[in-house]
Amino acid sequence: MKFFIDTANLDQIREAQDLGVLDGVTTNPSLMAKEGITGTNNILKHYINICDIVDGDVSAEVIATDYEGIVKEGTALAELHPQIVVKIPMIKDGIKAIKYFSDRGVKTNCTLVFSAGQALLAAKAGATYVSPFIGRLDDISSDGLTLIEDIRLIYDNYGFETEILAASVRHTMHIMQCAKIGADVITAPLSAIVGLLKHPLTDSGLAQFLADYKKGN
Ligand code: G3P
Repeated sequence: MKFFIDTANLDQIREAQDLGVLDGVTTNPSLMAKEGITGTNNILKHYINICDIVDGDVSAEVIATDYEGIVKEGTALAELHPQIVVKIPMIKDGIKAIKYFSDRGVKTNCTLVFSAGQALLAAKAGATYVSPFIGRLDDISSDGLTLIEDIRLIYDNYGFETEILAASVRHTMHIMQCAKIGADVITAPLSAIVGLLKHPLTDSGLAQFLADYKKGN
C-alpha cells in the first residue's frame, strides 16, 4: 500500500519524507491556495519544490475544463518534472484527455470521483490513478468506504491496472479500513499518517521499560 501526503505544505511534506514511509504527494487548487501559493509561475515552481523533496509521484491538477485546454495544460505540467502526474477532473472532456495522455504514456490521476461508474470510466480511459473522495461522501451521510470496496471488486473482476487512490482521507481509521479493503494508495493529511503511531499501551509500556532499566543502572 502506497502512502501519499495530501498537502502543498513543504514542511509537512519534508516531515513525512523524513519518516521514511512517503511514496508521493497529492495537491489540488484548494491546498495550493491554503499555502498562499497563487499565480501560475509560483504554482509551477511549487510543484518543482515538492518534487525535489520526495522520490515518488506528485499529482498536479489542471484548471482547464475543456479537452484542448486540459491537454495543453497537462502537457506543460508533465514536462515540468518526471515525477509529475497530471490530475484531471472526472468530466467528459477530462476522460477524453486521460485517454490522450494514457496513449502517450503520461501518468494521470482522475480526481473528484464519487461513484463506481465514474471509476469504471476512468479505468477504461487508462487513468494511472483514480481518486474516490471518501471523506466528502461520509460528510453527506453516504459511505465512502463502500465505494472503495465497489471499485476494488470491479477493477479485480477485469484486471484493470488503474490504482485506487483513496482520497479525502480524514483520519487513521480511514487509512486502516482502506488497507483492509485493498486500496492501492491512500492520500492523507500528515496528522492521519502520524496518528498510526499512537497507542497508549506503547507509551505506558515504554515508560515502564525505561523506569525498570533505570532501577538497575
Ligand atoms: O485528495 C482530495 C482531498 O484533498 C480532498 O480532501 O478533506 O478536502 O475532502 P477534503
